[in-house]
Amino acid sequence: MSIRVKNNIHWVGKIDWELRKFHGDEYSTNRGSTYNSYLIIENKVALIDTVWKPFSKEFVENLAQLIDLHKIDFIVVNHAEIDHSGALPELMQHIPDTPIYCTKNGVKSLKGHYHQDWNFKLIKTGDRLSLGQKELVFVEAPMLHWPDSMFCYLTEDNVLFSNDAFGQHYASEYMFNDLVDQSELFDECIKYYANILTPFSPLVTKKIKEVLSFNLPLDIICTSHGIIWRDKPEQIVERYLKWAGNYQENQITVIYDTMWNGTRVMAEKIASGISEVDKEVNVKLFNLAKTDKNDVITEIFKSKAILMGSPTINRGILVSVAGILEEIKGLQFKNKKAAAFGCYGWSGESTKIISENLKAAGFELVDDGIKAMWNPDIENVNKCVEYGSAFADKARG
Ligand code: FEO
Repeated sequence: MSIRVKNNIHWVGKIDWELRKFHGDEYSTNRGSTYNSYLIIENKVALIDTVWKPFSKEFVENLAQLIDLHKIDFIVVNHAEIDHSGALPELMQHIPDTPIYCTKNGVKSLKGHYHQDWNFKLIKTGDRLSLGQKELVFVEAPMLHWPDSMFCYLTEDNVLFSNDAFGQHYASEYMFNDLVDQSELFDECIKYYANILTPFSPLVTKKIKEVLSFNLPLDIICTSHGIIWRDKPEQIVERYLKWAGNYQENQITVIYDTMWNGTRVMAEKIASGISEVDKEVNVKLFNLAKTDKNDVITEIFKSKAILMGSPTINRGILVSVAGILEEIKGLQFKNKKAAAFGCYGWSGESTKIISENLKAAGFELVDDGIKAMWNPDIENVNKCVEYGSAFADKARG
């Protein structure tokens, strides 16, 4: 199967409708994903990226139906992560001497994964590769998503091959952005950004500004996951600039886990206190034990402030809360306020532990949080409502 993207550019990737977890079990892919590979057949023939290893045989067989593999002059590896380079070992068995164009870090990653001494050609920003009349122009894009990542741009067709950047885990046979459900598409885009690209936001801004400064005409963005942006491709670039700029909506998210419902009651009362004093703010509640972790991270990304709650257990906190705290420590959200809450029976360490972790994750703590002994009584219920109202005021300011 192949899809013509434009002129002599063909999509030759794999739509993975079955995928439900990515990066091991780290990222939920409820709408599947795609591994996008592109074949450009000009005077010279270039293959850009491949697919994930489980589909390598299928990929190579499919490619061989479109072209004699020996006619591939160049392989471009924009990014060495396994979801894009996984079919290289299979492909290189057929064409072992074909040059592979990648960054210096790309060679390190590829050698690290596959232990092969392929015919590597090193690429730096500004290098060009002639395909005849058209050229591929390369731009290194370190940390978008790995140190080796790069973009390339096909002149005359005005197509940017951006690899992970601007992608989404979203399977669709439509394959183009103007054909798919827009709400599904942008849900997957923001989830992808929040969960994968947040730590690299300063680099995202810098790289986009650098690419825009070249003033290259842009007709299409071919990403390595999900749909191809052919209708107003600048719309996803603009969204990335917004998301990379300490993005927030008027939202407060209350996140918790609970043992005997005490912390849940606290969560709901705090939320009602917020809504009492601020009718505009979008208050959302999530029980971590019952909610997709990556969806919660997306909601944190959208929030101006969060409240995180856990009861105390064995002088610690519940594992679902500990897990998300560890994850958001790595993501390093900026410009977000936070506080902790939780009920307890005797020792009551949970709010302190959560507060310390939120601080380490880069959140601005508005106070020491609120705790309630045993199941909240009417007095503690009222305190939670008052606390929520006070928190809403602090989140506003
Ligand atoms: Fe889709 Fe960083 O690999």
